[in-house]
Amino acid sequence: MSDNRQHQTIYEALGGTAGIRRVVEAFYPKVQEHPLLGPLFPEDITPVMDKQELFLTQFFGGPPLYSDQYGHPMMRARHMPFPITPERADAWLGCMSLALDETVEDEALRRAVLERLKAPAYHFINS
Ligand code: HEM
Repeated sequence: MSDNRQHQTIYEALGGTAGIRRVVEAFYPKVQEHPLLGPLFPEDITPVMDKQELFLTQFFGGPPLYSDQYGHPMMRARHMPFPITPERADAWLGCMSLALDETVEDEALRRAVLERLKAPAYHFINS
């Protein structure tokens, strides 16, 4: 098992979909409370959490659960209705960093997750 770790996907290292769910459940309350992010999101955050669980499972190398249900992710396009500024991208990553601190023990893994999310976050900037 241990000599296999270098071949693990981030999905596996996080503990699969259950581990990703823990991150997502720590993340969205912070998003909702954030003054720059909260107003963009619906009051009922559960459907957003569910989609994010499916998407991050797929994004981090697990089964393509998001595409199975919703088709091609086209994530930048799906974010176009929302004004995403550089400040909001930083805030999103900041909330994610706090959520990872609470849910993922392995510091190198936390850094790897954040690093992988940085590119899409800045790519989604549209305002
Ligand atoms: C850059 C800052 C970001 C902002 C401000 C932001 C904001 C939002 C908002 C407002 C929604 C729609 C919620 C709704 O009404 O359903 C959403 C959906 C979503 N976001 Fe983000 N987001 C950001 C970055 C990201 C990143 C980096 C990812 C993953 C790589 C991501 C993944 C998703 C997913 C999977 C959905 C659901 C898409 C769907 O409707 O199927 N977002 N985001």
